[in-house]
Amino acid sequence: MLNKLFAVFYVFLIAAIFLFATPAWAADASKGAKIFSANCASCHAGGNNLVNATKTLKKDALEKYDMYSLEAVKNQIVNGKNAMPAFGGRLSDEQIEDVATYVLSQADKGW
Ligand code: HEC
Repeated sequence: MLNKLFAVFYVFLIAAIFLFATPAWAADASKGAKIFSANCASCHAGGNNLVNATKTLKKDALEKYDMYSLEAVKNQIVNGKNAMPAFGGRLSDEQIEDVATYVLSQADKGW
């Protein structure tokens, strides 16, 4: 009887850990990595910029061009800028959020 109670308790415990303790950014950044390699890496492989070499995705460049925030990065992905195409029609809001999160977390890590 006690064993069964413990078994039930552990199932709930594991479910609770899974539901509440998984950091949201971990899932986002891993999805973002796939979106990045499919849509962005052609110009931004390794956080660089093959088209405009000064506008990299590295932290110092993002800070310099006022791009070091989730809102700024999302805005540029949606609308594009100069030689960078707009992804607003091609990626969902959630995908844009994921890939922007990935870009910022990679910038923090130094790519
Ligand atoms: C066709 C090439 C191309 C693709 C594909 C592309 N970009 Fe860009 N990206 C650029 C160019 C060019 C710029 C510089 C725009 C400017 O300011 O003139 C840029 C700038 C940026 C910046 C700002 C960098 C800075 O230092 O100011 C971010 C952030 C960015 N891109 C993210 C992305 C993401 C995320 C994707 C994929 C969803 C993507 N880009 C896809 C060409 C591209």
